[in-house]
Amino acid sequence: MTLFHRRGFLRASAAGLAATWWVGHSSAADSPVEVAPEPRPALPLDFTKLTPQDTLFLTWQRDPTTTITVQWIAPPSEQIPAVRVAPRFGPANWTNGTVETKPFGNTDLKVYRCEFVGLTPGTEYIFQIGSSSQVHCFRTMPAKATNTFTWVSGGDSGIGADAIATNILAAKQEPNFVLIAGDLGYDNGTSAKVAVQFIANYSKHMIDPKGRLIPLVTCMGNHEVRGGYKGRRSDATYYLPLFDGLYKDTTYNVLDFGDYLSLVLLDTGHVSPIEGEQTQWLEDVLRERQDRPHLFVANHVPAYPSYRNPVGREKVLGVGELQRRHWSPLFERYRVDAVLEHHDHTFKRTHPLTDGLYDKYGVPYLGDGSWGKLRTPVPPEKRPYLAKVAKAYHMTVQQLEGPQRLHVAMENGSRLLDVYTTTGKRPAKRG
Ligand SMILES: [Fe+2]
Ligand SMILES: [Fe+2]
Repeated sequence: MTLFHRRGFLRASAAGLAATWWVGHSSAADSPVEVAPEPRPALPLDFTKLTPQDTLFLTWQRDPTTTITVQWIAPPSEQIPAVRVAPRFGPANWTNGTVETKPFGNTDLKVYRCEFVGLTPGTEYIFQIGSSSQVHCFRTMPAKATNTFTWVSGGDSGIGADAIATNILAAKQEPNFVLIAGDLGYDNGTSAKVAVQFIANYSKHMIDPKGRLIPLVTCMGNHEVRGGYKGRRSDATYYLPLFDGLYKDTTYNVLDFGDYLSLVLLDTGHVSPIEGEQTQWLEDVLRERQDRPHLFVANHVPAYPSYRNPVGREKVLGVGELQRRHWSPLFERYRVDAVLEHHDHTFKRTHPLTDGLYDKYGVPYLGDGSWGKLRTPVPPEKRPYLAKVAKAYHMTVQQLEGPQRLHVAMENGSRLLDVYTTTGKRPAKRG
């Protein structure tokens, strides 16, 4: 019996959820250094003229409460610029970092990477690159989730005007970080210009209202890999040189934020098969983290699609079928709070699901990747696992406060699409 031929689903409703979803903005503190964002010139796609400031962005390779990784793409340099970091407030005690370079796909460009460890949690820092007088700013994640904090999630960006509009909307929410879970620029493992433009757009727009750069976390989608699926690491021509700090040995990993938040970042068959090693790793990782206050999974291809067909044909699997078979039972057993999925280019929220059916203690799947790409979703009447869909460019503000999670989907133009809450830890599915 398939998930579509079993008993009907109850309808979840957003009614009664707090209308005061608005993300809190703390008041600006006085700053000893001017770090307000400045408009930058349009990217010179002449790669020989790229400066570090054109593609500068932050990411993480390990615990975001005490580390930061500074990266940019630029031509090779005989003298690699130094990076130094200091607390934003108080005496300017500078620490110098070590910059590593690596090839950027099939280009003459290099990826420049500098990681700082041993930082103080919940602290604002400034940093400088080389002899540039420009000062940049960022903040580390808090040591404990005692205060409300927000981050933004989404997928399927591209490099067009709609993607840029979503970038700007996301940055306005003052998130601690952004997660884009696959299909970043749509370089397809073949276009260096697209890959650079995506990072340049991010660099230019993802600065919060207080002048802080917003770190970027990603996982792989089909448009990062030549051929889309069943590729080799070398087919992720421009993605892995940028993000293999986190994906050094595998194309999936987990990012632990202190002891309060874990993001499990998966590869839906683009380089690593879903079944086998990745599934075994996933079970181990989730088992160890089943009591974590906030446990999210993010992946690219949805287990419960809102556009593509989840039902297979003879010898052809339905979309998400392998995840539903191998991963969803683990999400249910090990108390995953929400799964973020993408690829179908819509807004969607499923009901909380166990075995594909409505269960108030089940797992919600939030998606479906329309940061800058759009399709018309199938209505919930035809897909009973869906609670709500919309054809809308969007990203989701994830607001965590104590045991409560507010998942607020916002459309370009700031229209509120959906407010959904999850609270505490649901019971694990037995068996
Ligand atoms: Fe996509
Ligand atoms: Fe995709």
